[in-house]
Amino acid sequence: MTRAPVSLPQVALPDNQRGFLQTKRTDTWWLFPTITLIYFAIAATYLTWAAWQGEHYWYSGPGGAQYLSPIYSPVLFSDSTRAGAAPVEHSWFGEWPSWLPKLLLGFIPLTPALLILWAPGGFRLTCYYYRGAYYKAFWGDPPNCAVGEPGFRGTRFRGERSLPLVIMNIHRYFLYAVIPFIFILSYDAIISFIFIDPETGSHRFGIGVGSLVITANTVLLASYTFGCHSLRHIIGGKKDCIASSQARLTAYNCVGCFNRWHMQWAWISLFWVGFADLYIRLCSMGIWSDWRIL
Ligand code: FES
Repeated sequence: MTRAPVSLPQVALPDNQRGFLQTKRTDTWWLFPTITLIYFAIAATYLTWAAWQGEHYWYSGPGGAQYLSPIYSPVLFSDSTRAGAAPVEHSWFGEWPSWLPKLLLGFIPLTPALLILWAPGGFRLTCYYYRGAYYKAFWGDPPNCAVGEPGFRGTRFRGERSLPLVIMNIHRYFLYAVIPFIFILSYDAIISFIFIDPETGSHRFGIGVGSLVITANTVLLASYTFGCHSLRHIIGGKKDCIASSQARLTAYNCVGCFNRWHMQWAWISLFWVGFADLYIRLCSMGIWSDWRIL
C-alpha cells in the first residue's frame, strides 16, 4: 500500500479545548460534508417520493420502446389500474393480488417499488463508503478529521461494535440480496433495445435515448456493486495467500479494480438511478419525448 504524509493547515488550539465544530484546521474542511449532506438529502427525497408514486414507472413509446424504471425492477405485482404501470405480462406474479393491501395503515401507499427496494436501499445505507460519508455529513461524528464532535453518543467512543451501529454488519447479507438485481437490470437493459412494431406486433432491434440511459444505469450499478468491500473480502480478502489460485487472484484483482473507485461509483450511480427514473417518468407522462436514434 502506498503511503504519503499529509499535513493539515492548523492554528494553535489545545486538543482538550476542542468543542463541537472547533478545529485547528484553517482549510475548507466543512465543504465536502456540506456537499454530501445536500446531495444525499436531495437523492433520498427524490427516490423516496418516486418509489411511493406507483405510477409512470413504465414507458411504452409510440415507436415500440419498452422502458422500466430501475427503482421498480423487478415488478413482482403490477396494479394495471394505475397510469404508467408496467403491463401485467411484464410482472413476475401478474396482477396486484387482493390479499396484498394497496394502502398500509389505511394511508401509506404500497407500490411495486416498495416491495423490492429494501434490498438496494439497505445495501446503500450500510455501504462502508456511505457510512463514513453520512456519519460525517448528518451526525457530525466526526464532521471531518481533527474537528470537534457533538458527542451524541457520550464521551466513550463505541464505534460499530455495539447497538445500534453494530447492525451495519448486515451489509454483507444485503450484498447477497442485490447481486441478482444486477442480472435483472441487465435484462431490462436488453429489453430496452427491443422495439415492438405497433402495427404488426413484431420485434426489432432499436436504440432510443432511453435504451442508453437504462444501459448506463446498469453499468454504473454493476460497477458500484462489484467494487463492494464485502465482495472483495469474500473473494480473497480473508485468505493469507490468494496467488495460489489463478482464478481467485483474477477475480480479486477485478473486484479491486472496481473497489479503487468505489466512492466515485457510489456518487455517480446514485445520481444516475434517480435520473433514469426521472427520464422514464417524464416520458411516460408525455412531458419528454424519447428520441429514437436507430
Ligand atoms: S462497501 Fe460499498 S457497497 Fe459494499
